[in-house]
Amino acid sequence: MKHIKAVIRPEKLSDVREALDEAGCSGGIMVSEIMGQGNQKGIIQAWRGEKYQVDLLPKVMLDLVVKDEDLETVKKIIIDNARVGEIGDGKIFVYNVESVTRIRTGEEDNDAI
Ligand SMILES: Nc1ncnc2c1ncn2[C@@H]1O[C@H](COP(=O)(O)OP(=O)(O)OP(=O)(O)O)[C@@H](O)[C@H]1O
Ligand SMILES: [Mg+2]
Repeated sequence: MKHIKAVIRPEKLSDVREALDEAGCSGGIMVSEIMGQGNQKGIIQAWRGEKYQVDLLPKVMLDLVVKDEDLETVKKIIIDNARVGEIGDGKIFVYNVESVTRIRTGEEDNDAI
Protein backbone atom coordinates (compact mmCIF):
# COMPACT_ATOMS: atom_id res chain seq x y z
CA MET A 1 0.00 0.00 0.00
CA LYS A 2 1.16 3.50 -0.81
CA HIS A 3 0.40 6.85 0.74
CA ILE A 4 0.17 9.56 -1.92
CA LYS A 5 0.52 13.07 -0.57
CA ALA A 6 -0.19 15.58 -3.33
CA VAL A 7 0.07 19.35 -3.00
CA ILE A 8 -1.94 21.10 -5.72
CA ARG A 9 -3.38 24.47 -6.66
CA PRO A 10 -6.66 25.00 -4.74
CA GLU A 11 -8.54 25.78 -7.96
CA LYS A 12 -7.62 22.33 -9.33
CA LEU A 13 -9.21 20.37 -6.50
CA SER A 14 -12.59 19.80 -8.16
CA ASP A 15 -11.03 18.72 -11.47
CA VAL A 16 -8.78 16.21 -9.71
CA ARG A 17 -11.62 14.80 -7.61
CA GLU A 18 -13.98 14.48 -10.59
CA ALA A 19 -11.30 12.68 -12.62
CA LEU A 20 -10.58 10.29 -9.74
CA ASP A 21 -14.33 9.60 -9.52
CA GLU A 22 -14.67 8.96 -13.24
CA ALA A 23 -11.75 6.54 -13.18
CA GLY A 24 -13.26 4.66 -10.24
CA CYS A 25 -10.31 5.68 -8.10
CA SER A 26 -12.22 7.63 -5.50
CA GLY A 27 -11.94 5.68 -2.29
CA GLY A 28 -10.97 7.50 0.86
CA ILE A 29 -9.30 10.87 0.62
CA MET A 30 -8.17 13.54 3.05
CA VAL A 31 -8.24 17.16 1.89
CA SER A 32 -6.43 19.90 3.79
CA GLU A 33 -6.05 23.58 3.12
CA ILE A 34 -2.43 24.43 3.75
CA MET A 35 0.09 27.22 3.25
CA GLY A 36 3.36 26.34 1.59
CA GLN A 37 6.38 27.37 -0.37
CA GLY A 38 8.33 25.65 -3.09
CA ASN A 39 11.64 26.45 -4.74
CA GLN A 40 10.76 30.03 -5.58
CA LYS A 41 9.98 30.84 -1.94
CA GLY A 42 6.70 32.53 -2.75
CA ILE A 43 6.15 35.47 -5.05
CA ILE A 44 6.80 39.20 -5.15
CA GLN A 45 3.59 41.24 -5.27
CA ALA A 46 3.15 44.95 -5.84
CA TRP A 47 0.56 46.91 -3.89
CA ARG A 48 0.22 50.71 -4.02
CA GLY A 49 3.64 51.02 -5.56
CA GLU A 50 5.28 48.98 -2.81
CA LYS A 51 6.77 45.58 -3.57
CA TYR A 52 6.56 42.93 -0.93
CA GLN A 53 7.29 39.22 -0.65
CA VAL A 54 4.48 36.74 -0.08
CA ASP A 55 6.42 33.75 1.16
CA LEU A 56 3.61 31.29 1.91
CA LEU A 57 0.92 30.60 -0.68
CA PRO A 58 -2.36 28.75 -0.18
CA LYS A 59 -2.34 25.20 -1.53
CA VAL A 60 -4.52 22.12 -1.11
CA MET A 61 -3.00 18.90 0.19
CA LEU A 62 -4.52 15.53 -0.71
CA ASP A 63 -3.73 12.36 1.22
CA LEU A 64 -4.74 9.08 -0.37
CA VAL A 65 -3.80 5.55 0.63
CA VAL A 66 -4.08 3.19 -2.35
CA LYS A 67 -3.25 -0.36 -3.36
CA ASP A 68 0.23 -0.72 -4.89
CA GLU A 69 -1.30 -1.56 -8.27
CA ASP A 70 -3.28 1.71 -8.33
CA LEU A 71 -0.33 4.01 -7.57
CA GLU A 72 0.67 4.93 -11.11
CA THR A 73 -2.93 5.40 -12.28
CA VAL A 74 -3.77 7.73 -9.43
CA LYS A 75 -0.54 9.69 -9.85
CA LYS A 76 -1.24 10.18 -13.55
CA ILE A 77 -4.79 11.37 -12.90
CA ILE A 78 -3.51 13.92 -10.40
CA ILE A 79 -0.78 15.15 -12.75
CA ASP A 80 -3.08 15.37 -15.79
CA ASN A 81 -5.69 17.34 -13.88
CA ALA A 82 -3.56 19.55 -11.63
CA ARG A 83 -1.00 20.69 -14.19
CA VAL A 84 -1.06 24.19 -15.67
CA GLY A 85 2.56 24.05 -16.81
CA GLU A 86 3.75 26.95 -14.69
CA ILE A 87 5.68 27.31 -11.47
CA GLY A 88 3.62 26.40 -8.43
CA ASP A 89 1.79 23.44 -10.01
CA GLY A 90 2.57 21.38 -6.92
CA LYS A 91 4.25 18.13 -6.04
CA ILE A 92 3.50 14.48 -5.30
CA PHE A 93 5.18 12.55 -2.50
CA VAL A 94 4.79 8.75 -2.17
CA TYR A 95 5.35 6.75 1.03
CA ASN A 96 5.12 3.07 1.90
CA VAL A 97 2.24 2.26 4.25
CA GLU A 98 2.82 -0.35 6.94
CA SER A 99 -0.77 -1.17 7.77
CA VAL A 100 -4.36 -0.03 7.42
CA THR A 101 -7.15 -1.05 9.79
CA ARG A 102 -10.85 -0.31 9.35
CA ILE A 103 -11.97 0.40 12.89
CA ARG A 104 -15.58 -0.75 12.39
CA THR A 105 -14.81 -4.25 11.11
CA GLY A 106 -11.22 -4.91 12.02
CA GLU A 107 -10.39 -5.53 8.35
CA GLU A 108 -6.75 -5.04 7.50
CA ASP A 109 -4.60 -3.67 4.69
CA ASN A 110 -5.98 -3.99 1.13
CA ASP A 111 -9.37 -5.08 2.49
CA ALA A 112 -9.49 -1.96 4.63
CA ILE A 113 -8.57 0.63 1.99
N1 LIG B 1 10.52 19.83 -0.87
C1 LIG B 1 9.30 20.10 -0.40
N2 LIG B 1 8.97 19.71 0.85
C2 LIG B 1 7.73 19.96 1.33
N3 LIG B 1 6.76 20.59 0.65
C3 LIG B 1 7.05 20.99 -0.59
C4 LIG B 1 8.32 20.77 -1.18
N4 LIG B 1 8.29 21.28 -2.44
C5 LIG B 1 7.06 21.78 -2.61
N5 LIG B 1 6.31 21.61 -1.50
C6 LIG B 1 4.91 21.99 -1.31
O1 LIG B 1 4.32 22.06 -2.61
C7 LIG B 1 3.81 23.36 -2.86
C8 LIG B 1 3.99 23.69 -4.32
O2 LIG B 1 5.36 23.60 -4.63
P1 LIG B 1 5.85 24.06 -6.06
O3 LIG B 1 4.94 23.49 -7.10
O4 LIG B 1 6.04 25.53 -6.09
O5 LIG B 1 7.25 23.28 -6.11
P2 LIG B 1 8.58 23.74 -6.84
O6 LIG B 1 9.62 22.73 -6.50
O7 LIG B 1 8.86 25.18 -6.54
O8 LIG B 1 8.21 23.54 -8.39
P3 LIG B 1 7.95 24.69 -9.49
O9 LIG B 1 9.31 25.13 -9.93
O10 LIG B 1 7.17 24.00 -10.57
O11 LIG B 1 7.17 25.77 -8.83
C9 LIG B 1 4.55 24.26 -1.89
O12 LIG B 1 3.78 25.41 -1.58
C10 LIG B 1 4.71 23.34 -0.68
O13 LIG B 1 3.51 23.31 0.05
MG1 LIG C 1 7.48 26.68 -7.01
